[in-house]
Amino acid sequence: MRTDIINYLEKEIYKRASVTSNKFGIGCYYHIEAVVKNAQILAQEFGADEEIVIIAAWLHDIASITDYSLYEMHHIHGANIAENILKQFNYEEEKINKVKECILNHRGSVNNAKLTIEEKCVADADAISHFDSIPSLLYLAYVNKHMSIEEGRNFVVEKLKRSYNKLSEPSKEFYNDKYNNAMELL
Ligand SMILES: [Fe+2]
Ligand SMILES: [Fe+2]
Repeated sequence: MRTDIINYLEKEIYKRASVTSNKFGIGCYYHIEAVVKNAQILAQEFGADEEIVIIAAWLHDIASITDYSLYEMHHIHGANIAENILKQFNYEEEKINKVKECILNHRGSVNNAKLTIEEKCVADADAISHFDSIPSLLYLAYVNKHMSIEEGRNFVVEKLKRSYNKLSEPSKEFYNDKYNNAMELL
């Protein structure tokens, strides 16, 4: 496991998320951290290459937090930024390409069935990460959007349902309890 790269990425993502020019705020660091955690769990569950999945998870939203103007195409810009960083660590080209594929396809816009197992782990971890940040979603609904109790509840429930429905079938099954627990609570 390339812990040198992983340790660097953890610090670098925190640094980039902390600067005031990052329009998404520090919350996106906790989002990325949750994606890494879930991606590693899924990689172990489905036998994916853990190193590729962890590195890609740390890097998947790097373009958005680096420069807001890159947000719309952040999967493409992110793959390029990742390549530059990983080359500085002399990471093998074949592995760099696998990481880039995970970043390019993390947004769930591509036919999920075509993805490699590593790509699925990152895309699914991105979708399920909302279930680890329900307090932030409630804050968004009640504080930022000034919603009523019922509006806020529906907003969060619908967001979580959409995220869950993006998952691949094996991940839906794997996270079924997490989904039901969240729905019961809300
Ligand atoms: Fe993203
Ligand atoms: Fe993300």
